[in-house]
Amino acid sequence: MSWTWFCLAALATLAGLFLHTIRRDDEVFRFEKGRMTLAMVKPNAYERRWEILEIIQEHGVDLRRSKEVALSKAQVEEFYQEHRDRPFFEDLVEFMCSGTVLVALFEGEDAVGRVRRALGPTDPQEARKLVQSGQQETVRAKYGWDVTRNAAHASDSPSSAIREAALLFPEAVLWNENE
Ligand code: RTP
Ligand code: MG
Repeated sequence: MSWTWFCLAALATLAGLFLHTIRRDDEVFRFEKGRMTLAMVKPNAYERRWEILEIIQEHGVDLRRSKEVALSKAQVEEFYQEHRDRPFFEDLVEFMCSGTVLVALFEGEDAVGRVRRALGPTDPQEARKLVQSGQQETVRAKYGWDVTRNAAHASDSPSSAIREAALLFPEAVLWNENE
């Protein structure tokens, strides 16, 4: 084997190792119950997704993973299963399937509470009232259109966060129930 071929083979081996390392790192992601939560930028606010991630991070949590996806009807029905008997469920499913969403995992002390506070009340009108009365700016006050198209979602408990993360980040999430 000539010197050139030897170098090419060595480079290919190194590149293979490097890619393998990156891929492995990407697959293994430790999701610590209580310190992590899931947020989603809904279709009506997709164009403002980077600003929304900024606002959430200003509430003291770190962005650990994000990706953009078009959710299927089955995925949304599963995701919002607790609401399947509510009168707004059909509208909600149709809305959530109407465009791309960004899903994200955040980590920090009381991550669930912090991200919920960053979003504000479910109804953007309520959220705007709170901001007008002097409270900190929130995602739904700024980008929500109405009670359904309210810009973003956030898990409501550490257990919901685990369920939702397992649904939307099946390739990347490991967790330990005892932590
Ligand atoms: P999310 O789950 O999206 O973070 O919202 P949330 O906890 O603040 O409110 P939740 O009661 O869980 O409602 C889930 C989503 O359903 C839509 N909704 N529409 N038309 C209506 O009366 C109505 N109520 C709720 C919203 O998109 C809400 O975020
Ligand atoms: Mg909810």
